[in-house]
Amino acid sequence: MHNNWLALESDVCVITGAVGGMGTEIAREFAKQKARLVLIDLDKEKCQQFAQALNDEFGIQAIGIGCNTTLEIEVDAAVAKVKETFGRCDVLVNTAAILRFCPLEDLPLEEWNQTINVNMTGYFLMSQRFGRLMITQQSGRMVHIATVAAHTPETYSGAYSATKAAIAMLSKQIAAEWGQFGIRSNAICPCFVKTPLSKKFYEDKAVEQGRTRMIASRRIGETKDIANAVLYLASKRADYTNGSELVVDGGYEVMLGDLVPRPGGRRQFAIEQHTAAQLAKTNKQ
Ligand SMILES: NC(=O)c1ccc[n+]([C@@H]2O[C@H](COP(=O)([O-])OP(=O)(O)OC[C@H]3O[C@@H](n4cnc5c(N)ncnc54)[C@H](O)[C@@H]3O)[C@@H](O)[C@H]2O)c1
Repeated sequence: MHNNWLALESDVCVITGAVGGMGTEIAREFAKQKARLVLIDLDKEKCQQFAQALNDEFGIQAIGIGCNTTLEIEVDAAVAKVKETFGRCDVLVNTAAILRFCPLEDLPLEEWNQTINVNMTGYFLMSQRFGRLMITQQSGRMVHIATVAAHTPETYSGAYSATKAAIAMLSKQIAAEWGQFGIRSNAICPCFVKTPLSKKFYEDKAVEQGRTRMIASRRIGETKDIANAVLYLASKRADYTNGSELVVDGGYEVMLGDLVPRPGGRRQFAIEQHTAAQLAKTNKQ
């Protein structure tokens, strides 16, 4: 594979949630490709420090912007800063989201609304405002981080699943409305990935082992697994991929049937049944 396979060099890539677990890795992978970066998250100082660190390490041009993606005024200010600094935006990666735990019957309306605000409205606002710039350019690529919980409910997590299902659909709507302007929009559905958002799940080794057994590839995902998929969808290599959902889950979604218990375990059960059938056949002959 030649070095410039993804051809992302100098592309201006805006990443939200850029100092979170997944965002950090996504930013680093774009930096390795010599893209120009706009790192967006709530903490301005952290964003700027991370941008500086990437500039130093990779010799690129990255800037950090403190921006709450749910606030129109801050998103518009971020767009203005990107226009002023780079004059364009080639890639938008929506990553900034929150996950709060609560049984539905106890969920305060405020928490329901907060999750909708960050996970849905934030993705919409960023897409709309940077999308307008992409429409002017007649080119752009968007990658929205959803989750497999967009397909099956993430129980006791309030609006999380509902917002992610909505994002998967919003991504398709963007593709359908803006494909004619040279814009592509795709969503990624990760499953288990160790990050600050999910670290509570891995403090107990038994829980980690239980989770690992649910994955066909028998390992918990790494941030790099998701970053690789983001880069591909953002690149020219995915030029004809528009409105799609890429499930990056190590085969979690295909495991439901395999998780249904059979006496002695499914594989062992099958071996025993098969052996018994063979034996019966041989005895008959
Ligand atoms: N970690 C997992 O197992 C997992 C699995 C599937 C999907 N995801 C999705 O991946 C994405 C990243 O998750 P993560 O694990 O890196 O989470 P994380 O908590 O480590 O990072 C999220 C980042 O978003 C930022 N953020 C939150 N609200 C914001 C706002 N209003 N404006 C700007 N920034 C804001 C946070 O400050 C944080 O840095 C999320 O969309 C999440 O739903 C995560």
